[in-house]
Amino acid sequence: MNDCYSIERLREAARSRLPRGVFDFYDGGAEDEVTLTDNCDAFQRVRLSPRVLRNVAHVDMSAQLFGLPMGLPIAIAPTGAVGFGWRGGDVALAQAAAKYGIPYTLSTSATASIEEIADKAPGRLWFQAYILQDKARLNALIDRAEAAGYEALVITVDLPVGGKRERDLLNGLSFPMKLGYKNIGQFVRKPFWSLDMLLRKPPFMPSLQGLASLQTDKTKMQGVAGMNYDPAFDLTALRALRDRWPRKLIVKGIVNPLDVDAILDVGVDALVVSNHGGRQLDTGVATLDALPGIVRAVNNRVPVLIDGGIRRGSDVFKALALGASGVLSGRATLFGVLGGGYHGVDRALAILGDELRRTMQLCGTPTLADIDSSVLAQPTSNRGKEEAAI
Ligand SMILES: Cc1cc2nc3c(=O)[nH]c(=O)nc-3n(C[C@H](O)[C@H](O)[C@H](O)COP(=O)(O)O)c2cc1C
Repeated sequence: MNDCYSIERLREAARSRLPRGVFDFYDGGAEDEVTLTDNCDAFQRVRLSPRVLRNVAHVDMSAQLFGLPMGLPIAIAPTGAVGFGWRGGDVALAQAAAKYGIPYTLSTSATASIEEIADKAPGRLWFQAYILQDKARLNALIDRAEAAGYEALVITVDLPVGGKRERDLLNGLSFPMKLGYKNIGQFVRKPFWSLDMLLRKPPFMPSLQGLASLQTDKTKMQGVAGMNYDPAFDLTALRALRDRWPRKLIVKGIVNPLDVDAILDVGVDALVVSNHGGRQLDTGVATLDALPGIVRAVNNRVPVLIDGGIRRGSDVFKALALGASGVLSGRATLFGVLGGGYHGVDRALAILGDELRRTMQLCGTPTLADIDSSVLAQPTSNRGKEEAAI
């Protein structure tokens, strides 16, 4: 793992370990993957304008969220089905998050149970709930997260129905994975992964156990989300969850400022600007492009977090400069765990932390509080317009 000096190298490590169809599930996005790509490109479009002579001998990357300390301004985003790529991957992510003093979010479609994570990972834990049609099951999961001491409930609101991920349809992906004529060649080429999956009990998703088939329905071109999630979920239903959950409530998956007031009226404690890493709606706006509008609409009432496309410490820096209180790491740490388990996540967080520190020093901002829009260069297109106006 020490040879991996960037998140892209961790992605390559994951790619070389996994059969193509499995790697594609984690790596891919919806339809033409426009949003998936644009989430990353949006960070590259933002250029920095560093300050100098500012004494950056000591850098402090520690943050606070909900009055509690974080070693980095990063939390681990919920990602489902991790155990199919690395057995025990959810625990590895949670334990590495604890090492760095950052929150870990357990997904509804995780391959570990709420209690297993609470037992094995000593850090700050958030539970992400998808709005299941089976409300008794949803309420039971939320109650279990409360009993297990989870600090926050994250409600994901950006997939009333599932996205159309064409790589998965092409690869005939299903959970649990089945051998077929389409994938047998891929599995044979990755014998270590394949033997582990074949010879030992296959991983499963404890929180979804027993629900409608987890197999992608090719006829309807929808995955598990379309069959089990509730498209009728609305603000009234969000209010009911607010009443049920006594601790911090985070809404994940907004990009349109018009949604902000109504959601905050429910009594939400933080928002995550997110488009699900480009996995649901394609051609939706890149999250970094959506961030300033959401920050303005929120107007300091609650912390605003962001995810989507974060692959560098400088991306974290840019998100903070545009008003985010912190970021969620999705594929960056996911590639880490898929490439090398606990050590891979450790490496991913070390890379992001090292790059953030370096960016802070090179931009003359020794603390997170020093990072603001004054270190951002004006976009070239705007500059052109202003020059023309002069
Ligand atoms: C393989 C995979 C599984 C995901 N599973 C979930 C999930 O179960 N719940 C959820 O709210 N978001 C899920 N997400 C979205 C992430 O939480 C996050 O929004 C996204 O990965 C951020 O984009 P990035 O990967 O480009 O950083 C998933 C993302 C990926 C890549």
